[in-house]
Amino acid sequence: MPLNPLFARVQLPEELPDVLCIDRMIYGDADTISEELWRANNIVAHWILVDGEKAGVVAVALDEGAPTTIDSDPVPEEGSVLIFTIGVLPAFQRQGLGLAATKWLGDEAPHIKGRTSIISTIRQSNAASIKMHEHAGWEQDGMRALFFAEPPEDAVIMRKIF
Ligand SMILES: CC(C)(COP(=O)(O)OP(=O)(O)OC[C@H]1O[C@@H](n2cnc3c(N)ncnc32)[C@H](O)[C@@H]1OP(=O)(O)O)[C@@H](O)C(=O)NCCC(=O)NCCS
Repeated sequence: MPLNPLFARVQLPEELPDVLCIDRMIYGDADTISEELWRANNIVAHWILVDGEKAGVVAVALDEGAPTTIDSDPVPEEGSVLIFTIGVLPAFQRQGLGLAATKWLGDEAPHIKGRTSIISTIRQSNAASIKMHEHAGWEQDGMRALFFAEPPEDAVIMRKIF
């Protein structure tokens, strides 16, 4: 039975330490987004809440061409909303929360003025995330060679056009 999450706006910068802590629990040290990057971008983040408990976090970067990983070049995307992070804590995974959050972002993003699509850059090896985006109705839209560092890896670009 899938869980039914609520989404609550993260108060930035006050709640940034909480976000970084949860992000580290989800990603480990490898792909954790640095505090510097969180602060440098125009980020809108939401907690994924289950019965009031923080089960994960989703965030989008509203600056056009914002980098979504520490070492990446900006994704040159006019008119797109960029997924900055989408993560569910291990104890809550495989219960439909990631899918619900991906669908929710896809439904919310068209309300942001001037945007025509939402995109996500995903490690090629992250089959779970690619499948989750496909289940939510997103489509693959090319690759970015060596987009990720540590370890270096290509990115699959997933997009949902409004
Ligand atoms: C990717 C992630 C967000 C998925 O969250 P989740 O709540 O566990 O996913 P869901 O339960 O909603 O699963 C949705 C679909 O994704 C796919 N999926 C999710 N986890 C999977 C796994 N471990 N292996 C294979 N497929 C998986 C399945 O197709 C699943 O549908 P199904 O259960 O009907 O088969 C979560 O694993 C996570 O936070 N991972 C670490 C951070 C990360 O990689 N984020 C994405 C970066 S772009």
